[in-house]
Parts: sequence; structure tokens; C-alpha cells
Amino acid sequence: MVDESFRNYRAEARASVRELYRLNHRFQTVEFVRAKQAEFLPKARRVMGIWEAMEFLDTLVDDSDPDTELPQIEHLLQTAEAIRRDGHPRWFALTGLIHDLGKVLCLFGEPQWAVVGDTFPVGCARSDTIVFPELFADNPDSRVPEYQTSGGIYQPGCGLANVLMSWGHDEYLYHVVGGHLPEEAGYVIRYHSFYPAHREGAYAHLMNDHDRAMLRWVRMFSAYDLYTKRSERPNVTALRPFYDELIAEYFPPTLRW
Ligand SMILES: [Fe+2]
Ligand SMILES: [Fe+2]
Repeated sequence: MVDESFRNYRAEARASVRELYRLNHRFQTVEFVRAKQAEFLPKARRVMGIWEAMEFLDTLVDDSDPDTELPQIEHLLQTAEAIRRDGHPRWFALTGLIHDLGKVLCLFGEPQWAVVGDTFPVGCARSDTIVFPELFADNPDSRVPEYQTSGGIYQPGCGLANVLMSWGHDEYLYHVVGGHLPEEAGYVIRYHSFYPAHREGAYAHLMNDHDRAMLRWVRMFSAYDLYTKRSERPNVTALRPFYDELIAEYFPPTLRW
């Protein structure tokens, strides 16, 4: 179901998208990732429920988001609806509904380049399957010898859970919602922007059996995430009762963000 045109759209990026990756590739370093984890993983910014977070995120209007051109709430509902239509488990539709909620980071004042776009490991050699690899030239980590080998600071087969990923909405949301969801759902949320791995097959040397088992869900999910660009606009009001119930099945009324 993955349509090549969606990745082509990403490849023939608008100037704003290239600029986003210029900043992303310049500033995503081991030190930056550790600092952002320390800043946001205590989840002390806000207390809100899932639907409230969806409405909050929908106030974000930024056409330089390379992930979608739709209003955020429509992208979320379309992803969820496409999954539901294909008869997948309820948790998988819920994953579609919430997968981009980590983009509320933008509304907390974070720059787009530190929130959206494809992700990749830091602290080891970068795969040339990462978009715009030439834009890493000015990244300070490019001059740290320890980070230039394929394994870098990691043991072979250590598992992605032990790997520092470039900071963005995936990792952040995983820490907000992961504890309430099946493991597969948490994994999809955490790695859905990790295109170099789930699309290109890179970084296999850092993965363990758990990653290999879970990646199939990320790949399946990715088709729905991309697919929704062309489907009809969802009727938010009509869909809300179904999703309110689904949200309540897994989540408490509020979460810490
Ligand atoms: Fe995303
Ligand atoms: Fe998405």
C-alpha cells in the first residue's frame, strides 16, 4: 500500500523542508538529544487528555512540516480510520489517532527542526539513507572520532531502546503515552519517523530480536501514515464518540505532558 509518490514528495522537498533538515542535521547531536530528554521527559509542561491534546495540536499551522500537509487532527483521524477500515486491532487504530501528538512540542516553543522530520541514531556513523546526508557536514558530532564508526558508542545488537535517537515528536510521545499502550503501539510511536530503518533497512547492526519482531508493525503503520494524504476529509464530530470510547479504554482522563 505504500505509494512511492509520497516519498518522492518528500525527496523533491519544498525549500522550507530542505531548510528544516539543514537545521536538523546541523544541530542534532548526542549532547543536544541528552539535553532535550532532560528538559522534556519529566513531563512537567501541561496536564491534558488525549482529545484535548488533539485539539491543542490542531492549533499548529505550519506548512513546512514534511510529514503531512493536512490539518493535524485530520491527519490523525484519517490514519486511524484507514487502520480501522482494514480490520486491525483497536489499539492499532488508537496508535494512528495519537501518533503525532508529540508535535505539541512546537506549541511549547520548540523549533520545527527539533520536532518533525525523519529520525536517526546519534553517537554512531550516519547511514547515507538519511535524507539530505550532505547537510551533516556542519554537525559538531562529525568531528568526534568515537561517533564515526558504524557502532559508535553502542554495542552491536544492543537494541534500539539503548540507542539515542535524534530528538523529535516520536521519542517524546513515547514517554508520554507508552506506559498505557501495548508494547507494539509504543514501539510504532517511538520509531515511526525512523525511515532509514523501517523503510531503507539501515542500522540493522544496532537491533536485537525484539526490534526485528516489532519493526513489522512500524512498516505496516507507515503505509497508513503516508496513505492518508489522498483520502477524504474526516467528519470530526461524527467520529468523536467512537474515539472517545477507544481513548477511555486505554487512557486515564488526563496525562502529564
Ligand atoms: Fe509523525
Ligand atoms: Fe503522521
